[in-house]
Amino acid sequence: MKDFLLFSGSSNIPLAHEVAKILGVTLGTVDLSRFADGELRPWIQEDVRDKTVFVLESLSHSMDEHIMEIALMGDAIRRSAPKNMIAVIPYMGYARQDKQHRIGEPISARVIAKFLEVSKYKEIIALDLHNDAIVGFFQIPVLHLNALSILQEEVLKMNLSDPVVISPDVGGVKRARNLAYQLDVPLVVMEKKRFLDKHDTSETFEIIGNVQGKSAVIIDDVISTGQTIVHSAESLMEAGAKKVIVIASHGIFAGSACENLDAAPIESIIVTNSINHMGHPTPKKMKEISIAHLISQAITTVVR
Ligand code: R5P
Repeated sequence: MKDFLLFSGSSNIPLAHEVAKILGVTLGTVDLSRFADGELRPWIQEDVRDKTVFVLESLSHSMDEHIMEIALMGDAIRRSAPKNMIAVIPYMGYARQDKQHRIGEPISARVIAKFLEVSKYKEIIALDLHNDAIVGFFQIPVLHLNALSILQEEVLKMNLSDPVVISPDVGGVKRARNLAYQLDVPLVVMEKKRFLDKHDTSETFEIIGNVQGKSAVIIDDVISTGQTIVHSAESLMEAGAKKVIVIASHGIFAGSACENLDAAPIESIIVTNSINHMGHPTPKKMKEISIAHLISQAITTVVR
């Protein structure tokens, strides 16, 4: 008998099952029904008293619904006196709103952190938050995992000739530098400008480094509309790159991302299964790799 329980919200049940299987447990039973007016009414159907309880929920598709789900599940669990309660968040929606880009906007990532704390989670396991500083928005411990090693393995399998690692924007330099260091290849940085008055709109301006004749490996944390990646790939090819590969921790693929990415000069896109697409289309050139082992190792570390 394992001395912890693992529950899943509805956002990424396939991943939760995979994690449960690795850990040799079955998912805890929870009834996630709704009242006629749409209000969520979670009902935990396990004895959680004195147990360590994990709740896995990706704050994705749709973010708001799943944030409410993990908050209410947390409140339901803590009212039955668990020993400890940990939120496992493979993808944290709102993390990109980690600063006030202009007066009058919220710092949404901080609000989400507070929301989880108010729901009485005592620790967070998260994967590749938009930036490391988000850990500081929480007053509870955060085990911040990163998918770099599993993404890196995929790149190595490709046996690319003359690879360079590309950061598609200045904010992603640290992530790209780590990959470049691991692969022992040069780092190239692109300068991106965002237009604050137009949502999800960006443009690539400059490439700092040499990509002529190289296999360009773009690494990013999130692919949402795909604009950052599409513009980067086009600029890299114009600058003489031989091919473009994309790796990212989280594939959202919002709006017309799939069509745009499939039409772009990109050979393949590798993402993790931190986000469940629930039947929504994904790019044809996408390959998904699992983070289930990473998550289950983290759970084992916390339980120990
Ligand atoms: C930006 O800072 C992020 O790291 C991603 O580059 C960005 O959020 C991707 O968004 P999109 O796919 O909509 O360009």
